[in-house]
Amino acid sequence: MTEAQIDKGQVAASFSRAAHSYDQAAAFQRQVGSNLLARLPAQLQPRAVTDLGCGTGYFTRQLQMHFAQPVIGLDLAEGMLQFARSQQAGQGDWVVADAEALPLRDASQDLLFSSLALQWCPDLPRALSEARRCLRPGGYLAFTTLVEGSLYELQAAWQQVDGFVHVNRFSALASLQSQLAAAGFARWHCDIESHVLHYPQLSDLTRELKALGAHNLNPGRPGGLTGRARLRALTEAYEAYRQPAGLTATYQVAHILMFKEA
Ligand SMILES: C[S@@+](CC[C@H](N)C(=O)[O-])C[C@H]1O[C@@H](n2cnc3c(N)ncnc32)[C@H](O)[C@@H]1O
Repeated sequence: MTEAQIDKGQVAASFSRAAHSYDQAAAFQRQVGSNLLARLPAQLQPRAVTDLGCGTGYFTRQLQMHFAQPVIGLDLAEGMLQFARSQQAGQGDWVVADAEALPLRDASQDLLFSSLALQWCPDLPRALSEARRCLRPGGYLAFTTLVEGSLYELQAAWQQVDGFVHVNRFSALASLQSQLAAAGFARWHCDIESHVLHYPQLSDLTRELKALGAHNLNPGRPGGLTGRARLRALTEAYEAYRQPAGLTATYQVAHILMFKEA
Protein backbone atom coordinates (compact mmCIF):
# COMPACT_ATOMS: atom_id res chain seq x y z
CA MET A 1 0.00 0.00 0.00
CA THR A 2 1.32 3.48 -0.74
CA GLU A 3 1.74 6.53 1.50
CA ALA A 4 -1.31 8.26 -0.05
CA GLN A 5 -3.45 5.26 0.81
CA ILE A 6 -2.72 4.89 4.51
CA ASP A 7 -3.37 7.27 7.37
CA LYS A 8 -1.35 5.95 10.34
CA GLY A 9 -3.53 7.81 12.85
CA GLN A 10 -6.57 5.98 11.49
CA VAL A 11 -4.71 2.66 11.46
CA ALA A 12 -3.71 3.10 15.12
CA ALA A 13 -7.22 4.18 16.13
CA SER A 14 -8.87 1.31 14.27
CA PHE A 15 -6.61 -1.36 15.80
CA SER A 16 -6.87 0.24 19.26
CA ARG A 17 -10.66 0.02 19.04
CA ALA A 18 -10.39 -3.65 18.07
CA ALA A 19 -8.03 -4.67 20.89
CA HIS A 20 -10.72 -6.45 22.94
CA SER A 21 -12.31 -8.31 20.02
CA TYR A 22 -9.14 -9.15 18.03
CA ASP A 23 -8.12 -12.45 19.65
CA GLN A 24 -11.56 -14.06 19.21
CA ALA A 25 -11.53 -13.22 15.48
CA ALA A 26 -7.88 -14.03 14.74
CA ALA A 27 -7.83 -17.75 13.86
CA PHE A 28 -6.27 -17.07 10.44
CA GLN A 29 -3.72 -14.64 11.95
CA ARG A 30 -2.78 -17.33 14.51
CA GLN A 31 -2.22 -19.83 11.73
CA VAL A 32 -0.03 -17.43 9.73
CA GLY A 33 2.09 -16.37 12.72
CA SER A 34 2.52 -19.99 13.84
CA ASN A 35 3.70 -20.92 10.35
CA LEU A 36 6.22 -18.06 10.54
CA LEU A 37 7.46 -19.25 13.95
CA ALA A 38 7.90 -22.75 12.52
CA ARG A 39 10.06 -21.35 9.71
CA LEU A 40 12.61 -19.63 11.98
CA PRO A 41 16.08 -21.15 11.54
CA ALA A 42 16.40 -24.08 13.95
CA GLN A 43 19.83 -23.03 15.22
CA LEU A 44 18.67 -19.53 16.17
CA GLN A 45 19.54 -18.50 19.76
CA PRO A 46 18.78 -14.80 19.81
CA ARG A 47 19.55 -12.66 22.86
CA ALA A 48 17.44 -9.64 21.85
CA VAL A 49 14.08 -10.16 20.14
CA THR A 50 11.37 -7.65 19.15
CA ASP A 51 7.88 -8.39 17.79
CA LEU A 52 7.00 -5.56 15.37
CA GLY A 53 3.26 -4.81 15.11
CA CYS A 54 2.64 -7.21 17.99
CA GLY A 55 -1.07 -6.37 18.39
CA THR A 56 -2.48 -8.16 21.45
CA GLY A 57 0.93 -9.76 22.06
CA TYR A 58 0.01 -13.38 21.30
CA PHE A 59 3.20 -14.00 19.31
CA THR A 60 5.26 -11.85 21.68
CA ARG A 61 4.35 -14.40 24.38
CA GLN A 62 4.97 -17.34 22.01
CA LEU A 63 8.45 -15.95 21.24
CA GLN A 64 9.12 -15.49 24.96
CA MET A 65 8.24 -19.13 25.60
CA HIS A 66 10.12 -20.36 22.52
CA PHE A 67 13.37 -18.58 23.39
CA ALA A 68 12.85 -18.50 27.19
CA GLN A 69 13.61 -14.81 27.49
CA PRO A 70 11.83 -11.43 27.52
CA VAL A 71 10.71 -10.09 24.14
CA ILE A 72 9.82 -6.50 23.29
CA GLY A 73 6.32 -6.02 21.83
CA LEU A 74 6.08 -2.92 19.64
CA ASP A 75 2.95 -1.52 17.99
CA LEU A 76 1.52 1.68 16.56
CA ALA A 77 -1.78 1.18 18.43
CA GLU A 78 -1.64 2.13 22.09
CA GLY A 79 -4.94 0.33 22.76
CA MET A 80 -3.44 -2.94 21.51
CA LEU A 81 -0.49 -2.57 23.87
CA GLN A 82 -2.70 -1.73 26.86
CA PHE A 83 -4.56 -4.97 26.17
CA ALA A 84 -1.29 -6.90 25.64
CA ARG A 85 0.04 -5.59 28.95
CA SER A 86 -3.15 -6.61 30.75
CA GLN A 87 -2.67 -10.19 29.49
CA GLN A 88 0.84 -10.42 30.87
CA ALA A 89 1.56 -8.02 33.72
CA GLY A 90 5.19 -7.30 34.46
CA GLN A 91 6.92 -9.26 31.69
CA GLY A 92 8.74 -7.81 28.70
CA ASP A 93 8.48 -4.27 27.38
CA TRP A 94 5.55 -2.89 25.40
CA VAL A 95 6.52 0.03 23.18
CA VAL A 96 4.18 2.31 21.22
CA ALA A 97 6.13 3.02 18.04
CA ASP A 98 6.11 2.96 14.26
CA ALA A 99 7.94 0.15 12.46
CA GLU A 100 9.18 2.85 10.07
CA ALA A 101 10.95 4.73 12.91
CA LEU A 102 12.13 2.19 15.47
CA PRO A 103 13.15 3.52 18.88
CA LEU A 104 15.83 0.80 19.08
CA ARG A 105 19.61 1.26 19.06
CA ASP A 106 21.70 0.41 16.00
CA ALA A 107 22.81 -3.23 15.90
CA SER A 108 20.92 -4.07 19.11
CA GLN A 109 18.61 -6.92 17.95
CA ASP A 110 19.19 -10.53 16.94
CA LEU A 111 15.67 -11.27 15.71
CA LEU A 112 12.91 -8.97 14.50
CA PHE A 113 9.67 -10.92 14.11
CA SER A 114 6.55 -9.44 12.53
CA SER A 115 3.34 -11.16 11.46
CA LEU A 116 0.70 -9.48 9.30
CA ALA A 117 1.67 -5.94 10.34
CA LEU A 118 4.04 -4.55 7.72
CA GLN A 119 1.35 -4.47 5.01
CA TRP A 120 0.05 -1.48 6.99
CA CYS A 121 3.32 0.43 6.47
CA PRO A 122 3.00 3.01 3.70
CA ASP A 123 6.77 2.94 3.18
CA LEU A 124 7.98 -0.67 3.39
CA PRO A 125 11.53 0.19 2.21
CA ARG A 126 11.82 2.53 5.21
CA ALA A 127 10.64 -0.23 7.57
CA LEU A 128 13.16 -2.66 6.01
CA SER A 129 15.93 -0.10 6.36
CA GLU A 130 15.02 0.48 10.03
CA ALA A 131 15.00 -3.28 10.64
CA ARG A 132 18.43 -3.66 9.05
CA ARG A 133 19.83 -0.76 11.12
CA CYS A 134 18.60 -2.31 14.38
CA LEU A 135 19.80 -5.85 13.65
CA ARG A 136 23.19 -7.06 14.78
CA PRO A 137 25.40 -8.58 12.09
CA GLY A 138 24.11 -12.12 11.61
CA GLY A 139 20.61 -11.10 12.77
CA TYR A 140 17.29 -12.03 11.12
CA LEU A 141 14.14 -10.22 10.11
CA ALA A 142 11.29 -12.73 9.78
CA PHE A 143 7.94 -11.37 8.65
CA THR A 144 4.68 -12.13 6.92
CA THR A 145 2.71 -9.67 4.83
CA LEU A 146 -0.21 -9.74 2.40
CA VAL A 147 0.20 -9.34 -1.35
CA GLU A 148 -2.06 -8.69 -4.31
CA GLY A 149 -4.83 -11.24 -4.70
CA SER A 150 -5.77 -10.99 -1.02
CA LEU A 151 -9.52 -10.43 -0.56
CA TYR A 152 -9.90 -10.31 -4.33
CA GLU A 153 -13.47 -11.61 -4.02
CA LEU A 154 -14.55 -8.64 -1.88
CA GLN A 155 -12.77 -6.23 -4.18
CA ALA A 156 -14.43 -7.70 -7.28
CA ALA A 157 -17.87 -7.75 -5.65
CA TRP A 158 -17.57 -4.06 -4.68
CA GLN A 159 -16.32 -3.26 -8.17
CA GLN A 160 -19.53 -4.70 -9.53
CA VAL A 161 -21.67 -2.67 -7.12
CA ASP A 162 -20.20 0.83 -7.44
CA GLY A 163 -16.76 0.71 -9.07
CA PHE A 164 -15.01 2.05 -5.92
CA VAL A 165 -11.99 0.46 -4.24
CA HIS A 166 -13.32 -0.59 -0.85
CA VAL A 167 -10.59 -3.07 -0.06
CA ASN A 168 -7.07 -2.11 0.97
CA ARG A 169 -4.68 -2.41 -1.95
CA PHE A 170 -1.93 -4.94 -1.45
CA SER A 171 1.47 -4.77 -3.20
CA ALA A 172 2.13 -6.89 -6.23
CA LEU A 173 4.52 -9.75 -5.45
CA ALA A 174 7.03 -8.47 -8.03
CA SER A 175 7.17 -5.05 -6.42
CA LEU A 176 7.56 -6.58 -2.94
CA GLN A 177 10.41 -8.73 -4.26
CA SER A 178 12.21 -5.75 -5.76
CA GLN A 179 11.89 -3.88 -2.43
CA LEU A 180 13.36 -6.91 -0.62
CA ALA A 181 16.21 -7.11 -3.14
CA ALA A 182 16.99 -3.40 -2.68
CA ALA A 183 16.99 -3.49 1.14
CA GLY A 184 20.69 -4.36 1.49
CA PHE A 185 20.38 -7.69 3.33
CA ALA A 186 22.99 -10.37 2.60
CA ARG A 187 20.36 -13.04 1.85
CA TRP A 188 16.60 -13.20 1.74
CA HIS A 189 13.91 -15.67 0.90
CA CYS A 190 10.23 -15.09 0.09
CA ASP A 191 7.53 -17.62 -0.57
CA ILE A 192 3.78 -17.38 -0.89
CA GLU A 193 1.14 -19.33 0.99
CA SER A 194 -2.44 -19.13 -0.29
CA HIS A 195 -5.19 -19.40 2.30
CA VAL A 196 -8.81 -19.76 1.23
CA LEU A 197 -11.21 -19.17 4.11
CA HIS A 198 -14.93 -19.94 4.02
CA TYR A 199 -17.83 -18.02 5.55
CA PRO A 200 -21.54 -18.94 5.70
CA GLN A 201 -22.57 -15.34 4.87
CA LEU A 202 -20.87 -12.14 3.75
CA SER A 203 -21.80 -10.54 7.08
CA ASP A 204 -19.62 -13.15 8.84
CA LEU A 205 -16.59 -11.95 6.86
CA THR A 206 -17.28 -8.22 7.29
CA ARG A 207 -17.98 -8.67 11.02
CA GLU A 208 -14.67 -10.52 11.39
CA LEU A 209 -12.71 -7.79 9.56
CA LYS A 210 -14.28 -5.21 11.87
CA ALA A 211 -13.47 -7.24 15.00
CA LEU A 212 -9.85 -7.43 13.81
CA GLY A 213 -9.67 -3.66 13.20
CA ALA A 214 -8.69 -4.49 9.62
CA HIS A 215 -11.73 -3.22 7.77
CA ASN A 216 -11.06 -0.86 4.94
CA LEU A 217 -9.25 2.41 5.70
CA ASN A 218 -8.63 3.18 2.06
CA PRO A 219 -9.30 6.85 1.32
CA GLY A 220 -10.63 5.81 -2.12
CA ARG A 221 -13.83 4.58 -0.49
CA PRO A 222 -16.87 6.82 -0.85
CA GLY A 223 -18.06 8.57 2.30
CA GLY A 224 -21.38 7.98 4.00
CA LEU A 225 -23.11 4.90 5.21
CA THR A 226 -23.42 1.71 3.29
CA GLY A 227 -27.03 1.90 2.20
CA ARG A 228 -29.27 -1.12 2.42
CA ALA A 229 -29.58 -1.38 -1.37
CA ARG A 230 -25.80 -1.29 -1.85
CA LEU A 231 -25.32 -3.92 0.81
CA ARG A 232 -27.93 -6.12 -0.86
CA ALA A 233 -26.17 -5.66 -4.23
CA LEU A 234 -22.82 -6.52 -2.63
CA THR A 235 -24.25 -9.62 -1.00
CA GLU A 236 -25.65 -10.76 -4.34
CA ALA A 237 -22.39 -10.06 -6.19
CA TYR A 238 -20.40 -12.00 -3.57
CA GLU A 239 -22.59 -15.07 -4.12
CA ALA A 240 -20.47 -15.67 -7.27
CA TYR A 241 -17.78 -16.89 -4.83
CA ARG A 242 -19.92 -19.46 -3.01
CA GLN A 243 -18.58 -23.01 -2.84
CA PRO A 244 -20.10 -25.97 -0.99
CA ALA A 245 -18.07 -24.97 2.10
CA GLY A 246 -19.28 -21.35 1.99
CA LEU A 247 -18.27 -17.99 0.55
CA THR A 248 -14.54 -17.87 -0.13
CA ALA A 249 -12.13 -15.18 1.04
CA THR A 250 -8.61 -15.62 -0.28
CA TYR A 251 -5.42 -14.36 1.36
CA GLN A 252 -2.02 -14.42 -0.36
CA VAL A 253 0.54 -14.44 2.44
CA ALA A 254 4.21 -13.73 1.77
CA HIS A 255 6.60 -15.40 4.25
CA ILE A 256 9.93 -13.58 4.27
CA LEU A 257 13.21 -14.33 6.00
CA MET A 258 16.05 -11.80 5.66
CA PHE A 259 19.57 -12.24 6.99
CA LYS A 260 21.90 -9.36 7.80
CA GLU A 261 25.51 -10.02 6.79
CA ALA A 262 27.64 -11.36 9.68
C1 LIG B 1 -3.35 -7.68 11.91
S1 LIG B 1 -2.58 -7.06 13.35
C2 LIG B 1 -1.35 -8.31 13.66
C3 LIG B 1 -1.02 -8.43 15.13
C4 LIG B 1 -0.11 -9.59 15.49
N1 LIG B 1 1.18 -9.48 14.89
C5 LIG B 1 -0.77 -10.91 15.10
O1 LIG B 1 -0.21 -11.61 14.24
O2 LIG B 1 -1.83 -11.25 15.67
C6 LIG B 1 -1.58 -5.72 12.72
C7 LIG B 1 -0.93 -4.88 13.81
O3 LIG B 1 0.06 -4.04 13.19
C8 LIG B 1 0.03 -2.79 13.84
N2 LIG B 1 0.64 -1.77 12.95
C9 LIG B 1 0.11 -1.24 11.82
N3 LIG B 1 0.96 -0.36 11.28
C10 LIG B 1 2.07 -0.34 12.08
C11 LIG B 1 3.29 0.40 12.06
N4 LIG B 1 3.57 1.28 11.08
N5 LIG B 1 4.19 0.18 13.04
C12 LIG B 1 3.91 -0.70 14.05
N6 LIG B 1 2.77 -1.42 14.12
C13 LIG B 1 1.85 -1.24 13.15
C14 LIG B 1 -1.44 -2.56 14.13
O4 LIG B 1 -1.65 -1.58 15.12
C15 LIG B 1 -1.89 -3.95 14.54
O5 LIG B 1 -1.80 -4.16 15.93
